[in-house]
Amino acid sequence: MAVEARNLAVDLLVSVGGGSASDSAKGIAILLAEGGALAEHCDVFTPPDRLVHRDLRRPKVPLIAVPTTASGAEMTPGCGATTPDGIKLKFWDHKLAARVVLLDPEATADVPLAITISTSMNGFAHCVEGLYSLGKNPVTDALALQAVRLFAGAVPRLVADPADRAARGKIQAAAALGGMVISNARTALHHTLCHALGGRFRVGHGDANAVMLPHAMRFNLDVTAPEQAQIAWAMGVADQSDETAAARAADAVAGFAKRIGAPGRLRDLGVPRDQLPAAAEDVLHDRGLYFNPKPITSAKLILAVYEAAW
Ligand SMILES: [Fe+2]
Repeated sequence: MAVEARNLAVDLLVSVGGGSASDSAKGIAILLAEGGALAEHCDVFTPPDRLVHRDLRRPKVPLIAVPTTASGAEMTPGCGATTPDGIKLKFWDHKLAARVVLLDPEATADVPLAITISTSMNGFAHCVEGLYSLGKNPVTDALALQAVRLFAGAVPRLVADPADRAARGKIQAAAALGGMVISNARTALHHTLCHALGGRFRVGHGDANAVMLPHAMRFNLDVTAPEQAQIAWAMGVADQSDETAAARAADAVAGFAKRIGAPGRLRDLGVPRDQLPAAAEDVLHDRGLYFNPKPITSAKLILAVYEAAW
């Protein structure tokens, strides 16, 4: 597609669809501007804490995005691409974020409900991780908490009545807020776990998000209790104490996923248990670990999280 775009001398890209559509457009924009192969332009993370960010300085062809899912990917400066051997490459350039994003609930009406559910779990996870990522700040906290409230209220409403246009609009707004969150706060352990599952086993990003999110929260709980209490309260957990609300946050997220019909175990997604150690090794080289509030220096720790989710 990038060769065709270059031959046509395109001066504008329009994506209609989910994160794959906008990420493809961003990938084309990188190749048009920077030349070479995509793999020459990705960020490189070396554990435990060395992140080499590629500076993609050349101007990029502008993107107009019409999202049809709830990932919020079009809002972000990031995109990903999977190599033939299953490794997810990540790119980051503020000139890649869509210049215009058109949020129209009608554009989502024909999307299968299962896609809306799984991508909602992706957008929701962006907010949860944004609340405890090392890149967080008070502005992203406000955006993330509002998006958590919107997702928690609107997705069950849409599942009960897929014709509910107001619920669709709220989910779109929540997804856009979540995109703003990760554009600034970034994502952490949870998304690294999902990237490896997607790259190695072709598990859909949203389905992986749904399964792994409570487990990543439990792993990070001892250093993120105040943030997890905020998440629990935003989801309607009626518990006054910080400590007990925080302890209930991951269960609240797992319950939310179950209620809307999202998957709950890796085995149900066809992930082979005996290959989890290899996925855990992949995770060690994902740049998201750089932003995790708890340092992760061994694949053993990651494997334990995968095992709990299997
Ligand atoms: Fe995501």
